[in-house]
Amino acid sequence: MTMLPLTFLLFLSISTTTAAAKTSQTTTTTTTLELKKNYYNPKVAAPEALAASKRFEGSSNLVKLKYHMGPVLSSPIKIYLIWYGNWPNPKKLLIKDFLLSISSSSTTEPKPPIKNHAATVSDWWRTVSLYTDQTGANISRTVLIAGEYSDRKYSLGTQLTRLTVQQVIANSVKSAPFPVDHKNGVYLILTSEDVAMQDFCRAVCGFHYFTFPSMVGYTLPYAWVGNSGRQCPEVCAYPFAVPAYMKGGGMGAVAPPNGDVGVDGMISVIGHELAELSSNPLVNAWYAGEDPTAPTEIGDLCEGLYGTGGGGGYMGQVMRDGKGRTYNMNGRRGRKFLVQWIWNPVIKACSGPNALD
Ligand SMILES: *[C@@H]1O[C@H](CO)[C@@H](O)[C@H](O)[C@H]1NC(C)=O
Repeated sequence: MTMLPLTFLLFLSISTTTAAAKTSQTTTTTTTLELKKNYYNPKVAAPEALAASKRFEGSSNLVKLKYHMGPVLSSPIKIYLIWYGNWPNPKKLLIKDFLLSISSSSTTEPKPPIKNHAATVSDWWRTVSLYTDQTGANISRTVLIAGEYSDRKYSLGTQLTRLTVQQVIANSVKSAPFPVDHKNGVYLILTSEDVAMQDFCRAVCGFHYFTFPSMVGYTLPYAWVGNSGRQCPEVCAYPFAVPAYMKGGGMGAVAPPNGDVGVDGMISVIGHELAELSSNPLVNAWYAGEDPTAPTEIGDLCEGLYGTGGGGGYMGQVMRDGKGRTYNMNGRRGRKFLVQWIWNPVIKACSGPNALD
């Protein structure tokens, strides 16, 4: 992936054929998988943009995920949500249900987690919570929504840049009753499908970084994720959409778990960014590679991988409900989600709650 000049922004690379996925495939194909009816492992077309991006292929960075001595989010994580643009309530509720599914709901949950079809979002975050800082503190397993702000009037227009998005945060801090939460706060800016962002669809589907005192008044971690539904679902809501030219080869898209290609696609990107934000909030904690301006983080290593046996164009073993909708984990209120796996520092491979081995 070509690195973007002038930025320090961490981007969600859009490669799907990562070497990590390959590694995982190598280790899992030796296991004989007893496939139940409700499991399947569709081959999903890699769009041109994805196929062309071989950022990690053959890269030794993969196995060199390192801790660089900085903090991780070890206190309960308080998310301040900024809804930018037009956000109907059902879409907001879907995203909030995902975020609120992350915290472990009870202390009596089974350990180790129940595998595959009973996998939960909270089990998925368990992998993230394996990362620690130099004091030995783990990333928190508690994630809360601490405040919400709606920027319905598109205060900075419908074309945002990496700098103006910080202005959106500054406006929300000014006009909303957000406390400035230095200990636990992170901002999550979500833009509606009619909002363009610099490099959206070409190089990024989401990114995380931290705010600058000169722009916002404070240094706080934030992430941006856009709804790609109208702009580039085949890139950023993959595998719920594939490019038209690939469909002839029998490589169809899979049905999104909540029937909303754009928002269901955002949820995996939000998961990716939150995992990285928590393990590398100030870009000096967990990443691979020597260059902090182009770090490879714990979500990057597992992009496109959603289950056992994934890699090389396969998303891995996932589940399908009675209506044919695809998912790999359960959330609160009966919700289902499809979220990519995360690099596990203990087993040194991608892992997720729906693993079959
Ligand atoms: C904290 O991280 C360590 C190292 O990865 C892990 O062994 C331990 O289980 C984690 N503890 C919790 C409570 O997640």
